[in-house]
Amino acid sequence: MNQVIGTSVSRTDGRAKVTGTATYGAEHQLPGLVHGYLITATIAHGRILTIDAQSIAQLPGVIAVFTHENMPRLFTPANDWASAQIYETRLPLSDNRVHYGGQIIGLVVADTLERARDAAHLARVEYQTDSVLVEVDKAAYEDSPPWFGEDFQFQEGTFETGDFSAARAGATTVVEATYTTETELNSPMEPHAIVAHWQTNNSVVTYEPTQWVRVSQGTYAQLLGIPTERVRVVSPYVGGAFGAKAFPWPHGILCVAAAREIQRPLKVVVSRRQMTANTGHRSQTEQTVRLATNETGRLMALEHTARTCTSPVEVFSEPCTAVTPVMYATPNLKLGQELAVLNVGTPTFMRAPGEAPGMFALESAMDELAWELGLDPVELRLQNETQAHQRRKHPFSAKYFADCLRTGAEQFGWSQRQMQPRSQQRDNLLVGWGMAAATFPGLRGSAEAKVRLLPDETAHVLTSANDMGTGSYTVIAMIAAETLGLPVERVRVEIGDSIMPDGGLAGGSQMTATLTPAVVNACQAVLETADAATVQQAFASLQATGRAAYEATGTAAPGEESTQFAFQSWGAHFCEVTVDEAIAQLRITRWVSVMNVGRVLNVKTAASQIRGGIIMGIGSALMEECHFDPATGHPVVYDLATYHFPAHADIPRIEVTFVGEPDLNFNPLGVRGVGEIGIMGVAPAVANAVYHATGKRIRSLPIIPDKLI
Ligand code: MOS
Repeated sequence: MNQVIGTSVSRTDGRAKVTGTATYGAEHQLPGLVHGYLITATIAHGRILTIDAQSIAQLPGVIAVFTHENMPRLFTPANDWASAQIYETRLPLSDNRVHYGGQIIGLVVADTLERARDAAHLARVEYQTDSVLVEVDKAAYEDSPPWFGEDFQFQEGTFETGDFSAARAGATTVVEATYTTETELNSPMEPHAIVAHWQTNNSVVTYEPTQWVRVSQGTYAQLLGIPTERVRVVSPYVGGAFGAKAFPWPHGILCVAAAREIQRPLKVVVSRRQMTANTGHRSQTEQTVRLATNETGRLMALEHTARTCTSPVEVFSEPCTAVTPVMYATPNLKLGQELAVLNVGTPTFMRAPGEAPGMFALESAMDELAWELGLDPVELRLQNETQAHQRRKHPFSAKYFADCLRTGAEQFGWSQRQMQPRSQQRDNLLVGWGMAAATFPGLRGSAEAKVRLLPDETAHVLTSANDMGTGSYTVIAMIAAETLGLPVERVRVEIGDSIMPDGGLAGGSQMTATLTPAVVNACQAVLETADAATVQQAFASLQATGRAAYEATGTAAPGEESTQFAFQSWGAHFCEVTVDEAIAQLRITRWVSVMNVGRVLNVKTAASQIRGGIIMGIGSALMEECHFDPATGHPVVYDLATYHFPAHADIPRIEVTFVGEPDLNFNPLGVRGVGEIGIMGVAPAVANAVYHATGKRIRSLPIIPDKLI
């Protein structure tokens, strides 16, 4: 049998997606399906005095209207990140209060989408309006409460080793700067949507995109006060999520509760405009970095503080400083994290939450330090590499960061760089070269998968895990094919359904590391069940005996390894930009990324994940920002035309290379995950290249043309 792992296998779900046969949440057709449309607040802070539900209930086709006055009873879920979790602590329509512009204040159900939408827009609402706060310079920041991170541990915002102030006072070179990033929207291509279908009033099926099928199931059960097994969540395809589809949002909770009242299958699609306020975003950030070195450029002190914002109805700190203790060795390290409340929707995880803006500040500051010291920025990073996590104290496992830096520099031709800003030109354009480092934690949870062998000589893998566009279908098939000794085409993968074994979370870049060892174990178990040394023997035995199938489950979970090692992936980005100063046109013309992510299971889909992260990072570097009108509190960005993001013409060819060895301390396959690391370090690599091209240090993202003039 040929080796499958480590080759390039095209997406097994690709054909279904491009031909339109892949069924997304809102595309599930059910007899008798009716449509819900959300009513949203036209003020950004205050109270609803009256909402005229009666008159819209009389409109043609309207079946029901839900407001805070008749919202069905819900129970508060545990919010323990294990059995149940919701994004926004306040339950939908739980009172008459409005906390942010565009907040959901009602739901109209009608026989058609058009009639529901029309009635929702005709709703007459009287408000008492309170003053609105959406401007960060007027916000009251306080020390952030500990946050629950993607690594499933609570993190304190404040952390200190050594004596930062004393070390800084004794340093020869000091760099100190403040960096800002703007509010970013997750903007998955597939809008948020749900279909809820009750069988009588005690069991429900939902069809919706979710990154965490089993926790969504448990959450609805707790909200509705019914046993978990009475809820089934079906999520075979997710059209992008980036952190915003892990748990139920208010629209999903509302849909499931309303569908029980009306006893009809109900669909609610959140419009693009409604998504801005109601399905998460990345908070704007303000960060200050202080670096102090001795005369040779060794970091003696490093301080990183961050300020981010949350909504009035949830505490979510964008953990910008989480990444700082892993990057560079320093005897004196100081971290701080503050949080303010604004009248904006609830922020949430967005690809490399905290780490991505945090890395913009840290890696921009490192570049400023390199110029200050007259050192090559690659050399500065090599010189200050740390072999241990400075917060957890464990040594890193299978770390090949230096290889990323050296290989990237070699591939890019970094040694040819002129050591002066504004010194490179081509075709009357300024040319700049920049680089920055990347890192992301290696995370792993526990999972279970079932493998079934059939007499037609196919193997089926079943698990609740899902694929949000990352390639899970394909790597699961590859792992089963390799373990069983079958061609990939003979493996059928069925995922994204809560009736299947618990496949865990597609978040924190951990699905592959979590799930694939369980698939290996299930494959081995099914051969044991069949009492067969090979899959061919098992098939022969099925055919000879007339037995319908062999079936077995396998589980896998982390052990004690995280008490000995810190697991982190690494990378380096090198890029070239050109700047036409006359019209402030900035283009990215070349990109080289070298990544160390443990074993690479599928070279093609892994490189695609890295490229996707880089493209998203270029979006944050150059275009993405959502502003709020201080007069009304409403976002002035509300669709994919007003929210700018990169198109094909903005993106150069992106070279991706993987280096290093499998991380066998981490899991039996040595695989760490590729979902988020691609975006890390992208924005600072661009900003650093812009400095090299123009001599302008841009410390606020995105780098829109105004900032270059
Ligand atoms: Mo991610 S932000 O863990 O989906």
